[in-house]
Amino acid sequence: MENNRIATTDFEKNDHHSFANPKEAVITHLIWSANIDFETKIIKAVAQYDIRKYPNAKEIILDTKNLQIEKVWRNENDTVDFELEEYDEILGQALHIPISKDSKTINIQYKTSSNAEALQWLNAQQTAGDAPFLFTQSQAILCRSWIPIQDSPGIRFTYEANVKVPEGNLALMSAENPQKIDSIGNYRFKMQQPIPAYLMALAVGNLEYYKTGSNTGIYAEPTTMEKAITDLEDLQSFVETAENLYGKYRWEQFDVLVLPPSFPFGGMENPRLTFATPTILSGDKSLVSLIAHELAHSWSGNLVTNTTWNDFWLNEGFTVYFEYRIMEALYGKDYAEMLASISFKELKEESKELINNGNEKDTHLKLDLDGRNPDVGMTAIAYDKGYFFLKLLEEVSGRENFDAFLKQYFKEHAFNSINTEQFLLYLEQNLFGVNELETPSNLFSNWVYGPGLPDNLPKPNSERFKKVEESIADWLTTENIDTLNTEKWSTHEYLHFFHVLPDSIGYNEVSALDNKFDFTNNGNAEILTEWILLAIKKEYRPAYGAMEIFLINTGRKKFLMPIYGELIKSESGKRLALNIYKKARQNYHYVSYNSLDKLLNYPTN
Ligand code: BES
Ligand code: ZN
Repeated sequence: MENNRIATTDFEKNDHHSFANPKEAVITHLIWSANIDFETKIIKAVAQYDIRKYPNAKEIILDTKNLQIEKVWRNENDTVDFELEEYDEILGQALHIPISKDSKTINIQYKTSSNAEALQWLNAQQTAGDAPFLFTQSQAILCRSWIPIQDSPGIRFTYEANVKVPEGNLALMSAENPQKIDSIGNYRFKMQQPIPAYLMALAVGNLEYYKTGSNTGIYAEPTTMEKAITDLEDLQSFVETAENLYGKYRWEQFDVLVLPPSFPFGGMENPRLTFATPTILSGDKSLVSLIAHELAHSWSGNLVTNTTWNDFWLNEGFTVYFEYRIMEALYGKDYAEMLASISFKELKEESKELINNGNEKDTHLKLDLDGRNPDVGMTAIAYDKGYFFLKLLEEVSGRENFDAFLKQYFKEHAFNSINTEQFLLYLEQNLFGVNELETPSNLFSNWVYGPGLPDNLPKPNSERFKKVEESIADWLTTENIDTLNTEKWSTHEYLHFFHVLPDSIGYNEVSALDNKFDFTNNGNAEILTEWILLAIKKEYRPAYGAMEIFLINTGRKKFLMPIYGELIKSESGKRLALNIYKKARQNYHYVSYNSLDKLLNYPTN
């Protein structure tokens, strides 16, 4: 067989979001020894690295951000002078460590600062229970704020960790994890598969474990566990379904950690231990596609990784495609079609918005994020345009061929990184070439290097959503709310309902909806967010109390941005937004308040 493998050492492509010098020297293994102090909210640690260097290497460069570097030595005790470069608002500081022929390891003793961007320290009132909590969020380039590291997705390493935490806490990492609290708070971790720095993760809190199958389980605070089990008890069948599609799960264990509500994302694919927001616990398993998504990253992303954040669609587009395939296998085609329809809507809206705001280039799959925070790449383009591109490839080549291609792709690139150009070459050879298919004309120039939505964008067609639209029409023509037939609706149908509700409805209809469905007290965060948006648009004040409570308790950026964004469209709304934000901001992770500060023009000093 022809060998298309891309070597780990193929560092020709440059990552502009890291100061690392992989062509000269790379880290290969980390031993992290750390003390977690909830009193000072500081981590004191030593990071020891095995390194691999190329002939004549003079130095190794690591990424840091707001770290206090105390001491650096090589091998056992060969202390050296290090140099910290000037601070960059986005990238932090390069740490230069001189190395010589006989430097086998480098050691860095350091402290995190109180504004370490990856870390969120929660006091007891901010968690579900009555104990403090710490969690990290490293993606995209925040690992450097808690570990000095080569923070580039194209550089992989294995790791071990020795972590000391206050008594009564369980510590967890993206590694082999304990299932019980250690009486004196000492934990050891091992990650034997090589991973990039953005997948480094740590969580500390009063947590317990519940096994859901031979290699799956749930970690949660005791008061959340019962709810967590209700929604997540089928984890084992998720893993089996995914393996049936694209090959063996390579990380042995798949556990989900349900975090406190301030977690800024829906989910984060930390290997062996997906981090998840508690806002997916709807009580009826209707939001578990998020778990399918994070699980899918165990192949697309964690196993085969985007080389730079400009190739982010290779992580997320593939993962959305894989997510929908898992959901189709578990819940049927009509279910997956609803998910695809929601993607379609989000893609159309965000693509239009980006183009209207003069950011047309950000609608290409291949991004150019140089000089910007890579988080701006987290748009519907990477996720949904990426998804529809793969869906198109599936339609053009036939599902069987496409699945065989993907399976082979994951296998051949396992534990490696790949960039867009390498992928396109691989695609030409192994999907079109092997199957003697013609590559559709302008496929790459339209989809990958071109703006907006290409003409051959596949259009989803959801029968279940059509029924929702018919039901709305019945209601609005009869003016009788009882004609709204919601009996068999899942969360997605409710979401679609809000998406297609005509602008022309007024306060009375909104009020009628609340009387009938009590949306103001809906426990499903996705539905509640849509309801709050509608309430703001129609100035339906009876929902504002619930909105304030939701904004104070929930830190998930995806909900916060649109709600605050809708509020500030009016003068009175702006005042309300700032009042709530003043109270709520302390409950948010950096990732969320950093974006909200900008949105709200919030004075930060
Ligand atoms: N890896 C992402 C989260 C992420 C992306 C963090 C970029 C930082 C920078 C994760 O897999 C993700 O996509 N989460 C989504 C959920 C998903 C179902 C689309 C989220 O959090 O909303
Ligand atoms: Zn993702």
